[in-house]
Amino acid sequence: MPELEALFEADTPALRKARGAFFTPEGISHFISTWAIRNATDRVMEPSAGDAAFMVAAVDRLKVLAGNPAAVPRIEGVEIHEHSATIGHERVVAAGGRPEITISDFFTVSPHPVYDAVIGNPPYIRYQDFSGVSRIRAAEAALKAGVRLSRLASSWAAFVIHSALFLKPGGRLGLVLPAELMSVNYAAPVRQFLFDNFANIQLVLFDEQVFPGVETDVVLLLADGYGQGPTTEATMRLTKNATSLASLSEESVSWTPPTASGKWTGSLAGAEALVALQALSAQEAFSGLQTWGKTTLGIVTGNNKYFALSPQRVKQVGLARSETLLLSPPGSAHLRGLELTTKQLQRLGQEGKSTRLFHPSEHHSEAAAAYIQAGHDTGVDTAYKCRVRKTWYQVPLIAPADLLLTCMNADTPRLTTNEAKAYHLNSVHGVYLADQYQELGRELLPLASLNSITLMHAEIVGRAYGGGVLKLEPREADIWLTPSPPWWTPTQTH
Ligand SMILES: C[S@@+](CC[C@H](N)C(=O)[O-])C[C@H]1O[C@@H](n2cnc3c(N)ncnc32)[C@H](O)[C@@H]1O
Repeated sequence: MPELEALFEADTPALRKARGAFFTPEGISHFISTWAIRNATDRVMEPSAGDAAFMVAAVDRLKVLAGNPAAVPRIEGVEIHEHSATIGHERVVAAGGRPEITISDFFTVSPHPVYDAVIGNPPYIRYQDFSGVSRIRAAEAALKAGVRLSRLASSWAAFVIHSALFLKPGGRLGLVLPAELMSVNYAAPVRQFLFDNFANIQLVLFDEQVFPGVETDVVLLLADGYGQGPTTEATMRLTKNATSLASLSEESVSWTPPTASGKWTGSLAGAEALVALQALSAQEAFSGLQTWGKTTLGIVTGNNKYFALSPQRVKQVGLARSETLLLSPPGSAHLRGLELTTKQLQRLGQEGKSTRLFHPSEHHSEAAAAYIQAGHDTGVDTAYKCRVRKTWYQVPLIAPADLLLTCMNADTPRLTTNEAKAYHLNSVHGVYLADQYQELGRELLPLASLNSITLMHAEIVGRAYGGGVLKLEPREADIWLTPSPPWWTPTQTH
């Protein structure tokens, strides 16, 4: 179709990216249409129609339900981009449907609750690029539904809310959404909205990335029974890719998030696992790390390059031994064993790692004075954290911890005994054991925490980022299930 090609030429990858235009593989649009459209008379709408992948799938589905290939189902949509809408229109006609595509910003279309199904793949435009009048309109549209979205919300969040408002009672919402729906803080009001308003929520997750060339993990949201909520439970199914959706098993796991707006990521562990975890913590075989002690953030220097020095650099600058402190070097790659010893730190130092923290007293050596002057000359003192200190070069210390906990990892968080009694920066957390668990905790906890329950629970309490990175904040570490101290029983604590 040469005319269609000409229309595509009027578009560019940059323009498509700016309006979040990534088109949906057929396997997905057919799967969602089949789920959402249940009657030949269903009224269906697509809020960000693009080139009409969903509208075409809906036409196919409505024809099947009508039992009449010659039927010409009406199908409605909205699309901001005129060229895409024109292509979409032609595709729906070619599929034997009657398209009604409104060329408009979806957020300026007033919602009329008349649709049985709203289906689609809204644009994912990150907050940095989602600004000005479009963001304000989107936020206002969500607010009309009583949902206050943060400024950090990506465009899809408001699309979910505004789309739901077009559903009649009992209607169904079937959307392709970024997997961040399940985890990011800005999506908390969306999660709450879904649980509050729908009777049934299902998610379908993929093992593989399903959008060619787009590095976004997606989930399918299938929300049924609009206006018939709230629900406390959702179900989840997992499949390999868009093709394997066709043979998606009915086998699913159900789960109830601790709060509707809370993260849904823990549910990836599967409902059976969650039940087992709950039982283990109820029996007190496992308890939050806070049972053993307190987890806190590490030292903030304001400029690690300046304050954390390799032994060689200390020598070069000529600092006195007392003017630096033993330091677990920035980062946490070196904390993969059970303990951090003085010997290991020596070796790390020989490798050029920064194992010393610059910490001069007020009466410092001439070498320290020269180093302080150099810091001043290069503007180290103007960094916010330095500027707000009484003496900019005196980094507030946090006592060496009993154990160090890695807090940002591509695999699993690790606890390491701080045998060397080194100070630590905020690239790791410090765990300070309660008095009665000092010895046992230092000897046992790093090893005891390497069990499948504790490792899996980290995925539940932590925050998953792109690329499989897991982050654990101190308050999350507090409730992270580790084996309980062996002699700890409720009767002894009362
Ligand atoms: C991810 S694409 C999906 C297109 C189509 N639904 C599909 O699945 O193939 C998102 C579409 O939303 C459109 N869009 C972006 N912002 C919009 C807005 N505010 N109102 C309506 N459509 C919008 C883009 O032009 C693009 O066609």
